[in-house]
Amino acid sequence: MEKKTYPAWVAGRPVEAGDTLEVTHPYDGRVIGTAVVPSAADVEAAIAAAHAARHETATLPAHARAAALDHVSRRLTERAEELARLVTGENGKPLKWARVEVSRAISTFRWAAEEARRWSGELQRLDTDPAATGRLAVVRRVPRGPVLGIAPFNFPLNLVAHKVAPALAAGAPIVIKPAPATPLSALVLGEILAETDLPAGSWSVLPVPNDRAAELVHDPRLPVVSFTGSVPVGWSIRDAVPRKHVTLELGGNAAVVVCADYASDADLDWAATRIATFAMYQAGQSCISVQRVYADRTVYDALAERVVAKVKALRTGDPWDDATEVGPLISEDAAARVERWVSEALDAGAKLLTGGQRDGTTYAPTVLADVPEDAKVSCEEVFGPVMTLAAVDSVDEAFERVNASRYGLQAGIFTRDLQVAFRAHRDLEVGGVVIGDVPSYRADQMPYGGVKESGVGREGVRYAMEDLTYERVLVLTGLPL
Ligand code: SIN
Repeated sequence: MEKKTYPAWVAGRPVEAGDTLEVTHPYDGRVIGTAVVPSAADVEAAIAAAHAARHETATLPAHARAAALDHVSRRLTERAEELARLVTGENGKPLKWARVEVSRAISTFRWAAEEARRWSGELQRLDTDPAATGRLAVVRRVPRGPVLGIAPFNFPLNLVAHKVAPALAAGAPIVIKPAPATPLSALVLGEILAETDLPAGSWSVLPVPNDRAAELVHDPRLPVVSFTGSVPVGWSIRDAVPRKHVTLELGGNAAVVVCADYASDADLDWAATRIATFAMYQAGQSCISVQRVYADRTVYDALAERVVAKVKALRTGDPWDDATEVGPLISEDAAARVERWVSEALDAGAKLLTGGQRDGTTYAPTVLADVPEDAKVSCEEVFGPVMTLAAVDSVDEAFERVNASRYGLQAGIFTRDLQVAFRAHRDLEVGGVVIGDVPSYRADQMPYGGVKESGVGREGVRYAMEDLTYERVLVLTGLPL
């Protein structure tokens, strides 16, 4: 991979000079590229331009928004392999998962273009009261104002796309701060945005370090903050700016339930394959990776045996190798924390079924059983390749244990029973329930977000557009209705 210096983007223009940040590959520490870090004056210019461009951006015709978003989707397609390699380089996820991420970003922008064309508002009759005869309301959604998007390292392109695409589709300028460990694919997205006719002030990409995020968060010219990242940082942002509109997409300890009816060899093979794959994909660094598995006691042994066999078969190693399924974590600190949490669980009586070793930034895919519920690997977000298995005696018990969490992002239920599926949808305290698959399933157009400490607000293109806007009513009178 060519090692380049990637400019920051301030109000649609490249910033080629200034301090720089070296981005290293989590697997072997080699330098992947260098990002230009915007100065305080650059940050001020980006915010001032977003503020100044807010009316122009909000009033752009639908065709102009959609054309720009379609252009981005097309150019991401053309540059897909280059971007996938950059994502693997900066994040360390295996190339095959990086390719999936790029194809999702392509779809996120395509959906945003489509939603921009559909974004129309609604009519409401007001002549339901004799005094309002001839009255009609036109309800349209207008941007709350320029958005500060703060994105995490685990999907360096697609979670940036989930901030940028809906904001531009809804007509809101956006200043995006990518994660300092993984800014490069967001900066390439800047190159592509610069090819469009969007108003210059409508977007900026600012790879500033986290200790400079507060100046952005507090700036009154950015009245909306959309944050994806860790639970404590997310809630501290909301506490710091209670009068802003703050959307938080935070973590979780996503659970799977395998019900008694999921008992055939084919069903158990499917469930075990999906559980093993999505507990460990991206080295567990997804907010909806499988962390806790509750299986009915009648299927527990058969499931556990299959899950452990499938986890043992996962190839760890160099993320550039097509055969690698589990790559490194983002840093040695992250891998060492996972190692500590697993040791704590083992000291508290958990049983190690496989895994449990660290080699630098790589942590072996690990399955634990008999884990005390207050062990961090169960009740906190591991964000590493570690899962816990437990047997339960009923669906009720399983649902209680799923809900006995501070978090609530998504849950996966392996059942063929429609009654159980609807009960899960009714009773589980999560933002999404997936039947017949793992909680890690996400389509980019569907509403995505959590309850409890997992966050507030929703992403998923149209839902994010709603979140970034408010209803403004126009009442028309004296109409011949
Ligand atoms: C996340 O980790 O928050 C996002 C998961 C996804 O988009 O698949």
